[in-house]
Amino acid sequence: MPSPIRIGALISGTGTNLEAILNACETGGINGRMVFVGADTSKARGLEKAEKRGIPSFVVDYSKIIRDFKKNPDPRQLPEDYDGGAIIERQSLFPKDSDPEKVAAYFAARAIAESELISRMADYPFDLLVLAGFMRNLSPYFIDRVNTDPMRPRIMNIHPALLPAFAGTDGYGDTFRYGCKLGGCTVHFIDYGADTGPIIGQRAFPITETDTIESIKEKGLALEWALYPECIALYADNRLIPVKMTYTSKNGDIYQRTVVKIAQPDA
Ligand code: GAR
Repeated sequence: MPSPIRIGALISGTGTNLEAILNACETGGINGRMVFVGADTSKARGLEKAEKRGIPSFVVDYSKIIRDFKKNPDPRQLPEDYDGGAIIERQSLFPKDSDPEKVAAYFAARAIAESELISRMADYPFDLLVLAGFMRNLSPYFIDRVNTDPMRPRIMNIHPALLPAFAGTDGYGDTFRYGCKLGGCTVHFIDYGADTGPIIGQRAFPITETDTIESIKEKGLALEWALYPECIALYADNRLIPVKMTYTSKNGDIYQRTVVKIAQPDA
C-alpha cells in the first residue's frame, strides 16, 4: 500500500465536505491525513471543524486584499515573481476580447491573495489540495506553483452540478431554475478555466415535481459527501491517470482534452 497522502483543504463556508473528507481519513476510507485547512474568510464555519480536530488552519482575507488593491493599485504590492503578461496569456477565466485593464486588475489582486496563500501553505507540505466549497477562482499564478508537472494535476474541486452544465457559483440553483430532471455533482481537477478541468467522478439524482432548491441542495450534498472522499481515495491509491486525448471530427476539426482514466486496483 502506498504511504498515506498529505491533504490540504481550502474552504469558504460550512465545511460539510471537509467533514466528510476528515471522517473518511479517520475511518480508513482515504489513505491520507489532513495537514491544513485554509479559508478566504474568517467567517468560514468549517474552520471550527478543523480546529476541533487539532488541524492547523489559517485565513487569507481575500475580500480585504481585493478591496485594498482597488483603492490603491500600487504594483509594488505584487509578488516579486508576478508576470502579469504571462498570466493573462494563459488564463481562460475571461474571453480574450475582455477589457484588458479589468482583466489585469483582476489577476493582480488575485496574485497578491494567492501569494499569501502559497506562503501560508508552505508551512504544511502536501500531496493533494482539495477545494471543499472554496468560492474563489484560482489563477494561473497559483495553479502553476502547485501543479509543477502539467500531467500530474494535484488540485481537486467539487462542483454542485453535472459539469459541463452550470459552472459558476450556484450549481444547484441553476439546475433547478433550468427545469432539469436530473441534478448532480462533479469532482474534477482544476485547470485555468472556471469549472472546466478534467472530470474525475460524477453522481446524479432525479428531480421531481415536488423538489425545491432546498431539497435539491440536500440531495446533492448527500451525494457530494460520498463522492468527494471516493475520488480522493482513488488519488491516494494512485489510480487517477490523466491522459491527453485527441479527437478528429467529421469536418476535420481537431479537439484535444485531458481526461482522467481510472486504473483498476492493484490485485
Ligand atoms: C458544496 O455544495 C460545493 O459543491 C459547493 O459549495 C458547497 C460547499 O458546502 N462548491 C461550489 O459551488 C464551488 N464552486 P460545504 O462548505 O458544506 O462543503
